[in-house]
Amino acid sequence: MQKKHSWSAVAMVLVAGLITAITTTGNTWAEQAKYVGSNVCADCHEEEYKSYSSYAKKAHSFEAIEKMKRHLTSQEVKNCYGCHTTGYGMPGGFVDEKTTPDLKNVGCEVCHGPGSIHVETEDAEDILGTVDKIKGVCNKCHTSERVEAFSFRPLLHGGAH
Ligand code: HEC
Ligand code: HEC
Ligand code: HEC
Ligand code: HEC
Repeated sequence: MQKKHSWSAVAMVLVAGLITAITTTGNTWAEQAKYVGSNVCADCHEEEYKSYSSYAKKAHSFEAIEKMKRHLTSQEVKNCYGCHTTGYGMPGGFVDEKTTPDLKNVGCEVCHGPGSIHVETEDAEDILGTVDKIKGVCNKCHTSERVEAFSFRPLLHGGAH
């Protein structure tokens, strides 16, 4: 009797483990991927990169910090990085201008997520690719009133790409 019980308990744990594995597989890339920088994306997405670097203010977001730097303490400058650079404090993300010059502006991966795995696999599943998946990230840096005013698509044609 006792033995039967523990076997079913083991089976339960295995089933629970399997379910967890299946339900989280879809997102594991997001936890494992590192930031690589927008110029790496340019190799395969030339059109988006061209449009982004020509029109998006994000492509120059580090200049805002440079302009104000001399009025700020080094701690205050670090407080700007979370919104004015790419992946600050995250794996492979911005560290400082000398160490990670390719991540100093707000790049593709701020919206699409860290790209190291997608760059290897070239799989659409390994990157955030649709408005539905992406729109939640804007609030991290923009106020929600501003985000509501964007209405996404016009923005894309006018700047992100
Ligand atoms: C080596 C080539 C290559 C590189 C580098 C690359 N991509 Fe891609 N990307 C692809 C291919 C191929 C597809 C199309 C996949 C498909 O349609 O199945 C794609 C699709 C996408 C999509 C659309 C996904 C969707 O759901 O439709 C996005 C967004 C994207 N890439 C962003 C990026 C970003 C951001 C970077 C830089 C971090 C990047 N890519 C770097 C090859 C690349
Ligand atoms: C919570 C996120 C966040 C933080 C932290 C932040 N910024 Fe910003 N900043 C933004 C956003 C978003 C914009 C763009 C506003 C818009 O266009 O709606 C912006 C715009 C600016 C602009 C105007 C840029 C231009 O060319 O018009 C300057 C200058 C600026 N920030 C400097 C700084 C400095 C310096 C710091 C650190 C002391 C800092 N910001 C911290 C999110 C942030
Ligand atoms: C401000 C956020 C933002 C930034 C920055 C951004 N994208 Fe996107 N991107 C999006 C959104 C949102 C979509 C989905 C568009 C749709 O479904 O209509 C998208 C779609 C895409 C697609 C799918 C094809 C298409 O054009 O619809 C590719 C490829 C892509 N982006 C690449 C890039 C690359 C490369 C960069 C950097 C040079 C970049 N994106 C920067 C938000 C962004
Ligand atoms: C990591 C922080 C961050 C995230 C996430 C982010 N932005 Fe931004 N965005 C900025 C900063 C910083 C600026 C201002 C750059 C400057 O002017 O120096 C900006 C500028 C803009 C602008 C001004 C116009 C232009 O040409 O760039 C729009 C519109 C915008 N963002 C929309 C969005 C939308 C929509 C999303 C989500 C899909 C998004 N942003 C996600 C930081 C962010």
